This record gives sequence, C-alpha cells and structure tokens, in this order.
Amino acid sequence: MIWENQQDCFGDADLKDAVQSLGRYARDFFLPVGRDRVNMFLKLDHCLRVFREAGAIAASEGLTGEMGRTAVWAALFHDIGRFPQYARYATFDDRKSVNHGRLGVRVLKQRGFLRFLDQELQKIVLAAVILHNCRFLPPGLPDRFAVPTKVVRDADKLDIFAVMLAHLRPDAAVNHVVTLGLCDNPAACSPEIVSQIMRGCLADYTKMVWLNDFRLLLCSWIYDLNFTTSRKMVLERGYVEKLLAPLPDTPDIRLAAKKVRADLRALAAA
Ligand SMILES: [Fe+2]
Repeated sequence: MIWENQQDCFGDADLKDAVQSLGRYARDFFLPVGRDRVNMFLKLDHCLRVFREAGAIAASEGLTGEMGRTAVWAALFHDIGRFPQYARYATFDDRKSVNHGRLGVRVLKQRGFLRFLDQELQKIVLAAVILHNCRFLPPGLPDRFAVPTKVVRDADKLDIFAVMLAHLRPDAAVNHVVTLGLCDNPAACSPEIVSQIMRGCLADYTKMVWLNDFRLLLCSWIYDLNFTTSRKMVLERGYVEKLLAPLPDTPDIRLAAKKVRADLRALAAA
C-alpha cells in the first residue's frame, strides 16, 4: 500500500489532514475479505495516485496559487463517491448505480471534508468533483473552474491507463468490476468504436461490447487530454503502444493504430 507512505502534500498541512481523512472514510466501507475489499483498496490507491498525478501536471504547467491548490484538493477527493457507491451497489458502473461525481459532492458537503478551504475554493473543488466524470465540460465554464477540473480529468485518465493496462493484459485475472463485464474475444472489435477513433473522437463507453473496445476507447482518450504535459506522459510511458499490442492484426485496426500513434506524437509536441 502506498497510502500510508504519503508524505508530500505540496506544502499544504491541511491537505495532509485531508489525505488521512479520506483514508479513514474509505476504510469504513471496506468489507473484511474477498474481491470487494480488493476493489475498494484499488479505488483508494487510485485516489492517491490521481492526487499525485494532478500535482505533477499542475507543477509542470506552472499552475500555482489557488489554481494549483484547488486542482490537487479536487484530485484527492474526486472519487470519494466511489466508496458509498460500491458499498451499496457492488459496482463502479454509474449506469447501473448512481453518478459517483454527484454522490461525491454530497459526501464532501455532509462530512465537511473541505472545511479548511474558503467558500470560493470549496465551490471550485466541488465543481471539479461533479464535472470530473462528465463526457464533456459545459461550454463557457470560467477558467477558475475549468482549469482545476481539467487537471483532475487528465490525472484521472493517466492513472486509469495504468490500472486498466494491468487488468487488460491477456494473462490477467478477470475482474468484471474493473472491466465492466465486457466479453473477451481476442479477434473482436466493434466497428463503431474503430470509426470513432478514425474520426479523432473520444469513443463512447455505451458502444463497448468487447475488451478490445475498451483498449481502443482508452486510446481515444488522447483526444480528450487537456495539457501537453499529460499527452507527453502518455507518450513517454508507452500506454498507447501497450493498449494497441494485443489488438487483432486486421486492416481496420492497423489504420486506427497508425492514426492514434501519429496523433499522439503530434499532440505531445503541441
Ligand atoms: Fe478516478
């Protein structure tokens, strides 16, 4: 567990307390044994890693002051709704349960986790939590809300790349909670997902049928990253190459792979 070893809170003593508070809150939902406990641990570790990724993005993009501070607070708490969600519904699939962003905002308000921040900063953090899992951000969102939200969205994706790669390895143990119950057919990809990639679009979760669709959907996230720092991280860590490797060698997939590789190189250099 990396949770107990968390030391660096970007010089923010209140944030250090907040890290501990989140850990205590999450653990209250842990079941004693089994797969459910593993899934809860995964989510708690994810929260901390996203928090760290957000700190790295904010630092690299020169986001100092309130912008950087709200980004890391929001990153830490972005998935707090996952714990009551999983405890009640035994799934992380919002379509089968509740919107975990909205649930997270309710928890943050009820438990007073943001009490160390002034009212304006609390509003920004709550907005980032509620917006972190929207497909698209509302147009015209002011920068003081949009920028921290975008940091959280990128940081979340960076960690999910790593988590999903571990679960999508051909030899990985099946965890239907993480892979959303998708069918494993090594030869199958849905044409609609491939076509979304060919159009340079973010692929649609609701169109996924196969595990390969999930690999392609994750590749399409390169079109939804907000910062050059995040795109460079994806390129340097080889996430897209690792996602593409198990896909079937068909003309359609070869074309899609070529496009994603070229687009990522261009986006990371922008
Ligand atoms: Fe997340």
